[in-house]
Amino acid sequence: MSVSKESLNHRTVFELYSKKLTEQLTTPEVINTVNQLHQLYSKITAIEGILAPSDTDEVFEELSENGTRVNPYMAAYCFLDYVRSYKFTLGIKKLVSDMLQSGDQKPLQILYAGTGPYASLILPLTTVFSANQIQVTLLDIHQSSLDAVNNLISTFNLEAYFNGYIKADATRFIPDDHINYDIIISETMDKALRKEPQVAIFNHLHQFLKPNGAFIPEEIRVDLYQSKWGEEKNPAFEYFLDTETRKHNAAFREKITNLMAINKHAVTKFKRTHSDQHLFLNKIDPKNFKAEYTALLLLTEVQIYKDVTLIEDESILTEKYYLSPLNDKVFQSGLSFYYKMDNDPRIVFD
Ligand SMILES: C[S@@+](CC[C@H](N)C(=O)[O-])C[C@H]1O[C@@H](n2cnc3c(N)ncnc32)[C@H](O)[C@@H]1O
Repeated sequence: MSVSKESLNHRTVFELYSKKLTEQLTTPEVINTVNQLHQLYSKITAIEGILAPSDTDEVFEELSENGTRVNPYMAAYCFLDYVRSYKFTLGIKKLVSDMLQSGDQKPLQILYAGTGPYASLILPLTTVFSANQIQVTLLDIHQSSLDAVNNLISTFNLEAYFNGYIKADATRFIPDDHINYDIIISETMDKALRKEPQVAIFNHLHQFLKPNGAFIPEEIRVDLYQSKWGEEKNPAFEYFLDTETRKHNAAFREKITNLMAINKHAVTKFKRTHSDQHLFLNKIDPKNFKAEYTALLLLTEVQIYKDVTLIEDESILTEKYYLSPLNDKVFQSGLSFYYKMDNDPRIVFD
């Protein structure tokens, strides 16, 4: 097989920046490294990370039975959520290293559900692990994303790592031969576990995880806060660099409780419901709400693995979400919280 000069050049650039992304970096270095990889990926696949493509018939977001799924352009844009992409890479690297050290079974079987066009959370790790250590099955609901990933893999000569390119809905997928996975990776979420099908996907795929297997992210937590909303500031446009605003806002809030913690144990309780039937989360007594506060917020934390965690405003996934004003009815009767597991998943209350 002849390898073109251009493909060799692409591979060199890929290896250089991928290796870098798996090491300790400052935030400006993360931004530069992800930008370099995005430039390379978008050139090879002709799919650029943009919010609203104008020349494609694949719409920005599609409604599906278990929530909104983003199109390949938006999925590519997720890679530009810099700290998210970096921390997922670091977290997966740490998990794979821990598993390789503790277990005798190699290679680790990994299912990546929702690859987008770049399979961006796993490709950089091919510069750290060998194909004897990790074997990856790639799955997405969009064929154009799988075709794009396939193009990247052949350009970088990484075929040995990948044992399947499956076009399927991850909330229904049944692996052949009832194979169980050591690791299942999926980032199909929005802040406060709204809109996208992360919970439904983990709920379904849980049955294909080995008993000692792990989900990435390991846990997603959504906490309820009361806030002096008028005192809060909005973070700067490049919010992942803005620690001042986070510190400022924390002084005007109080945590009430954790509402959801989705991990490989808890997710089994989160089964799809009809739109008029919701899963009960928590009842908050009125004495917990204080008159000095004016609003209820949901804050999301994504624990990718162990201490590798995305906190508020480090990524699109962990932006604060304004839930509702605090009014007299809440001060008198309290609130009950539920999770709605239909085609528009989200936390609701009455
Ligand atoms: C937020 S993007 C993440 C892309 C990439 N993994 C990353 O982290 O940069 C989510 C991806 O999941 C895919 N997806 C959404 N719902 C899905 C489903 N039910 N089954 C399979 N893939 C799905 C979308 O097509 C999209 O490519």
